[in-house]
Amino acid sequence: MEESVFQPYLRSHPTFRMDREILRPSYIPGKLPHRQHQIDQLAQVLVPALRHQQPSNVLIFGKTGTGKTAVVKYIEQEFKKADASGTADFLYMNCELVDTAYGVLQSVGNRFIENLDQRIPFTGLSTDRVYSMLVEKLDEKKRVVIIALDEIDKIVYKSGDDFLYQILKINDDTKNAKVSIIGISNDLKFTESLDPRVRSRLSDEKMVFPPYNADELKDILEQRTKLAFDNGVASDSVISLIAALAAQEHGDARRALDLLRVAAELADRSGSSTITEQHVQTARNKIDLDTVVEAVKSLPTQSKVILLGLLLNEEAGNPKLTTGEVYTTYCNLCGRAGLPRLTGRRVTDLISELDMLGLVHARVKSFGRGGRTKEIEASVPAMDVLRILERDEFLAGLKGYRIRLQTTLD
Ligand SMILES: Nc1ncnc2c1ncn2[C@@H]1O[C@H](COP(=O)(O)OP(=O)(O)OP(=O)(O)O)[C@@H](O)[C@H]1O
Ligand SMILES: [Mg+2]
Repeated sequence: MEESVFQPYLRSHPTFRMDREILRPSYIPGKLPHRQHQIDQLAQVLVPALRHQQPSNVLIFGKTGTGKTAVVKYIEQEFKKADASGTADFLYMNCELVDTAYGVLQSVGNRFIENLDQRIPFTGLSTDRVYSMLVEKLDEKKRVVIIALDEIDKIVYKSGDDFLYQILKINDDTKNAKVSIIGISNDLKFTESLDPRVRSRLSDEKMVFPPYNADELKDILEQRTKLAFDNGVASDSVISLIAALAAQEHGDARRALDLLRVAAELADRSGSSTITEQHVQTARNKIDLDTVVEAVKSLPTQSKVILLGLLLNEEAGNPKLTTGEVYTTYCNLCGRAGLPRLTGRRVTDLISELDMLGLVHARVKSFGRGGRTKEIEASVPAMDVLRILERDEFLAGLKGYRIRLQTTLD
């Protein structure tokens, strides 16, 4: 009988023990090093709920990977532990997943509706109707409800802050139930965009999570490696390297743990018995490339054409283009691909967007007599990204197309 393709892998034993569960982004360790202060502060704000009183609303800020979600989920567990008698409710919601006002009100409401027939439907009612169903249901008994809205900026940018106004108004419309909000965001500018009334009600308490420094990241990594591997798999120098790399890139614990996980996978696949510094460097390149690939894939078609134009010119030996040259190439490519052309102005805007995403680099260049133009250059690995763009169905007409630079002046 023919052997399954899995057999050789099953026979070869892993060279070290690795508990993948513990390395997952969603895993929350029993202790969160360097966040005790924030945990204590949050516990202090929320403890009135366990005494049937309404806690203040809290707004939590901090850059990506600073432990905001981890701390709030940890607090949720601890809160439920302390609230054995069910005095209060703690609801956690990620606003990137539930990203409309209707969605949030509906899913909060449904947590309190046991009878399936009475559940609030996914669509079909007005938001106001869902709001009044929610208020009516909540107010059936005396209770305190804490609602943690993670990535709250996502919903506000998508649907405006009306919904926050509404959710903060619940307490004016109830007699028995009291609601407190924990808003979480990594967008420091987000509160500026809020209506002042909403802002002041939402941020009774404000907490800022600072980025981790290299020493702190090292402690976080050490804790995970002890849980996930046997002794000696990840040496002190490997852990220090990962911590240093992640600290350079704005102290992001997610980045540090991603590096550890990917490096461990690479070590495992290469049959090595330890994670080496080389595995870490390779992991870093792999993660960077994956991020670029994701960003490129999710670009609108017109931006892909602009990027493709830059890369084809780069391949032909001309990596730096003026805005005018980018536009000429863009128009040429659109013609060949049978795509509509945008105006020069729109293309300039799209170039700025690509710049913000870090996919191109644009810099203002002056030339004689006060003239100015931008000099634009792709900042992605050309070969890898060309391969992705070639597979795009809307760019099928450009597959294999190459730009030839004129070598003579005519
Ligand atoms: N103090 C800590 N101890 C242990 N693990 C941590 C700590 N802080 C963060 N982590 C881990 O790092 C990863 C990122 O943390 P988390 O998801 O909480 O970041 P965040 O601040 O919510 O970021 P974002 O703004 O991108 O949502 C998670 O896997 C989390 O478990
Ligand atoms: Mg988070």
